[in-house]
Amino acid sequence: MRFYLIFFFFFVATNGLSAASLKEKFERFLEKNNVTLTDAADFLKKLKNYVNRSGQLDKLREKLKARGAKYTLDETRFMDWSDEDLRKIVINEVFVFDVPPTTEEPSVIPKLRWFPSGRRKRSSSGSFDWRTSGLVGPVKDQGACGSCWAFGAIGAIEVQWKKHYNTGTFSEQQIVDCDKSNNACNGGSFVTAFDYIIKNGLAVSADYPYVSGQTKSGGGCQVPPKSTTVTIDRYKWLQSIDQMEYYLETVGPFVIKIYVPMDLFYYSSGIFVPDNSTCSPSNNQGGHILTVVGYGSENGQAFWIVRNSWGDRWGEGGYIRFAKGENHCVIEAYPYIPAIKGVLMPTDWNS
Ligand SMILES: *[C@@H]1O[C@H](CO)[C@@H](O)[C@H](O)[C@H]1NC(C)=O
Ligand SMILES: *[C@@H]1O[C@H](CO)[C@@H](O)[C@H](O)[C@H]1NC(C)=O
Ligand SMILES: *[C@@H]1O[C@H](CO)[C@@H](O)[C@H](O)[C@H]1NC(C)=O
Repeated sequence: MRFYLIFFFFFVATNGLSAASLKEKFERFLEKNNVTLTDAADFLKKLKNYVNRSGQLDKLREKLKARGAKYTLDETRFMDWSDEDLRKIVINEVFVFDVPPTTEEPSVIPKLRWFPSGRRKRSSSGSFDWRTSGLVGPVKDQGACGSCWAFGAIGAIEVQWKKHYNTGTFSEQQIVDCDKSNNACNGGSFVTAFDYIIKNGLAVSADYPYVSGQTKSGGGCQVPPKSTTVTIDRYKWLQSIDQMEYYLETVGPFVIKIYVPMDLFYYSSGIFVPDNSTCSPSNNQGGHILTVVGYGSENGQAFWIVRNSWGDRWGEGGYIRFAKGENHCVIEAYPYIPAIKGVLMPTDWNS
């Protein structure tokens, strides 16, 4: 930063800011996040974004306090991102892709066939967490690319695969590059990603590593279908919280999509109970796709344990505990679960 000090003081002078504390905070941010500064213009851009985001963070914290919400917001890696940068990692048209599943009839599970009332065996503790199984890999990072749809789809496959075959983290890059029904870094649907995987299989990430977080775009498709390993043969759109819990416990994590509230970018810890009006169909920052790996409750507030793809320095080690039971940000509206080929999904409560 010291090379840029002259620009810094010019910036604070012309913007009437308090130089000392800003300098210290910005330096700490750069260091903590290993931010590289390429030239003076880059430095000024990041500084401006940082100042803007700091102002926004303060306002969001005030609102949080005013409505008595208990989760915490803090500086995250996004502090030097502009609004436009943020919009690029979420999906604008995410809910346009609400195509029904094409691979199995009936596409929507009839509630009564699968879940006769009163026969549900709830886990006695009222909580469940795949992370304690040792089957969940490290949190991934989609980087500066709107590829959450690929991470979400694969997030719902990896645990099941590991459970049955004891191997694997799989290639988001393959679907970003090869699934032409989606839009690479400009968003996509996990439903059509599942369709792609059903037809083509999936390579392991070591054979086809993720680079779009850096390049910010998809590349040419490189995997001939023969070299792939993972196969799924169907997926289901879950229709109730009971089903979500049951499939989570008996099959594996499932994928969801939400409308993004601004708070999400700053989420640091606690149970996320967003102001629903900031993530409604008519007011949101875009769409995002994540994977649910568990659920629980604390002080009477039920939550889903949700795995994000924004690296492990965001949220609670890359995870967020997200309010459960009230469809905040439509989190309970579009849960899907894939099944790996040859492994049956449960068809009976009593099994
Ligand atoms: C920053 O870089 C250092 C040294 O390369 C590394 O040990 C550290 O994990 C990095 N931190 C982050 C947040 O990427
Ligand atoms: C910072 O915020 C101001 C006011 O909201 C806006 O006009 C400006 O474009 C923002 N700057 C950046 C770099 O995002
Ligand atoms: C939040 O909004 C969703 C979608 O509009 C709605 O289904 C849900 O009931 C709302 N939840 C609360 C707690 O207001």
